[in-house]
Amino acid sequence: MRVGFVQLEPVFGQKDANIKKATQMIDKIDADLLVLPELCFTGYLFKDKDELENLAEKIPDGPTVEHFLNLAKKRNVGIVFGIAERCENNFYNSACMVTPEGELFLYRKLHLFMEEKDLFKSGDKKLFVIDFKGTKIGLMICFDWIFPEVVRILSLKGAQIICHPSNLILPYCQNAMVTRCLENRVFAITTNRTGKERRNEKELHFIGSSQVIDPSGNVITKASSDHEEARVVKIDPDLAKDKKFTPQNDLWEDRRIDFYSEILTK
Ligand code: ACM
Repeated sequence: MRVGFVQLEPVFGQKDANIKKATQMIDKIDADLLVLPELCFTGYLFKDKDELENLAEKIPDGPTVEHFLNLAKKRNVGIVFGIAERCENNFYNSACMVTPEGELFLYRKLHLFMEEKDLFKSGDKKLFVIDFKGTKIGLMICFDWIFPEVVRILSLKGAQIICHPSNLILPYCQNAMVTRCLENRVFAITTNRTGKERRNEKELHFIGSSQVIDPSGNVITKASSDHEEARVVKIDPDLAKDKKFTPQNDLWEDRRIDFYSEILTK
């Protein structure tokens, strides 16, 4: 399977131009599965809820989902992207996966980061996996990485590839994802954005460095920290079905769930 990332630098609020640029990049790539960053068509740093309301879309009825469903079909590729979702009076920091077969899957970020808490409602749907061309795909968004339960649950549900749209500003996730992949023996595609956003008195600098990691914790490919680029690598997703860490250690068989009850209490 050919999988990869499209690392972008969206311009805040320029949705049409951001979508056009992402489309032009995807049009040049041959891949089976591509992951774009979190909130990659709107930008990240909303000044307030009014601004978010103007840029967020209903899913599945919005034009962005329709555009990427068409593109997935035209290019015969599964596409995962982050999107600002409006649902009734709530907003979610969401990720969609669209497939060439016309399917749409929606994940709402469970763990909101900093001021996202003032704008978005945290996710209200269970983690799930998608059956895509015989491979199981799991979705999570950016700060979800710091809660190891997320990759663990997706992996226990059978995910072989974790698709991870991100807007990272801190330097920890890329290394942490090596451990997430190793301890669950899964692949992960973390796609980050680049560039700065300066809005009101706030400025954020996004650190790029998108990457694909294999179930042994190898970073198969890693992007620059400061410019847009797409990369595709060939992987064998079935490697993620083998949970043997050593001939004597199966990561699923060896779990001592009778000693883990505390993680289910606050
Ligand atoms: C993040 O969750 N955007 C850091």
